[in-house]
Amino acid sequence: MGSFTVNGGVRLNGSVRIKGAKNAILPILAASILTDGEVVIHDCPHITDVDNMLDILLAIGCRIKRSGDTVIIDASGADSYVMPPSISKKLRSSIFMLGAVVGRFKKACFTYPGGCEIGNRPIDLHLSGLSRLNVKVTEEYGLISCEGEDIRGANIHLDYPSVGATENIMMAAVTAKGDSVIYNAAREPEIEDLQCFLNAMGYDVRGAGTTTIYIRGGGRPGAVEHRLIPDRIVAGTLLCMGAMTGGTMTIENVCMPHIMSLTSKLREIGCTVEAQNDTVRLKAPERISEIRLLETMPYPGFPTDMQAQVCAMCCVADGTSILVENVFENRYKHIPELVRMGAEITIRDRTAIIRGVPKLSPAELYAKDLRGGAALVAAALKAEGKSRVHGVELIDRGYERLEDTLNALGADVARDDG
Ligand code: UD1
Repeated sequence: MGSFTVNGGVRLNGSVRIKGAKNAILPILAASILTDGEVVIHDCPHITDVDNMLDILLAIGCRIKRSGDTVIIDASGADSYVMPPSISKKLRSSIFMLGAVVGRFKKACFTYPGGCEIGNRPIDLHLSGLSRLNVKVTEEYGLISCEGEDIRGANIHLDYPSVGATENIMMAAVTAKGDSVIYNAAREPEIEDLQCFLNAMGYDVRGAGTTTIYIRGGGRPGAVEHRLIPDRIVAGTLLCMGAMTGGTMTIENVCMPHIMSLTSKLREIGCTVEAQNDTVRLKAPERISEIRLLETMPYPGFPTDMQAQVCAMCCVADGTSILVENVFENRYKHIPELVRMGAEITIRDRTAIIRGVPKLSPAELYAKDLRGGAALVAAALKAEGKSRVHGVELIDRGYERLEDTLNALGADVARDDG
């Protein structure tokens, strides 16, 4: 296991540019098998979730070229509907292939997906959505088999606005006979980006970004060139790190509406946040004040993917903060680590009560999941002295060489590949 050695106690100052969003590119890579035309994706981050997804595409017969931040996919030779179990176990996003694979091959064979250990992550909504499209789903011995010889459009109401289920249904429904409507769809910006990609490819999807998505079945998909939306969670993570270290930073390539739930909280706790076009500038006070109440919710609510980083930030706020995690039931694994650094946190069910302390102490820290790992790096940046954050592989899933980004902002972070 690799680690980061963080020499904490410096303010983050400077300017960085954010790349495309992990949660946008993963379903878009899946959707790239829905055409035989050339797919060109720009601003692709170099993160391991993307590497693994590209490995899946290779394994099912796609040809891939990568040049800098551009990925080119040719799926014309794709010939396998079986997801390689070794990869899909590692990567929960392999489940995002399901709709596209059934759409293309009329069949799919999957193992139950892996991914972050943030609680029980069922896929019932994905499977029942596909069943509504007339796909026959059977589950046996951890294997999911789908038969979709006659995929038909349908009206689908999701019991919960699941991001992945919404995306999978969109990808299968574009290949259906007849039209579909998804009600109570997830509204995340990454779903709009998928819609944009599918439409550029020649399909007809409308309504993404609202709770009702209309999908016309069929279409003549061709070549597509697409630039990803910026990663709102990477931007948010850096803003939290800037806020808690008393920094001044400029982040380029952000979409302000996508990070508004965070920037409004940052203002509330004493930061100055200024936006101009796609650039945001943060100036943090000497010590931030508390967040009185923050609850994670589906978009446009506060993202669960920012909860851990905000939790780390609140550890050094002047006052007591209350966070409620509503989306995932086991997403507080970073808290025992923060407590070992001197943070004062109590967990009651889904609520974390954080009494801010003036200082954190450096420690040996163990990342348990992707965003929790980033939260530990944030805390280590604040703690004066040398901390070590183990489990960098988890952080690499969603942050491209985080140490380089932080060092460009004046931090002192070194990677040890272990
Ligand atoms: C996506 C994001 C992830 C983010 C999450 C919530 C990607 C690659 N990942 O994950 O970073 O944390 O959205 O914003 O885009 N659920 C069910 N049944 C299902 C599906 C989901 O009960 O069939 C539940 C989950 O257990 C969870 C909630 O719905 O409690 C949200 O999950 P979902 O929106 O599906 O998240 P993902 O698509 O997995």
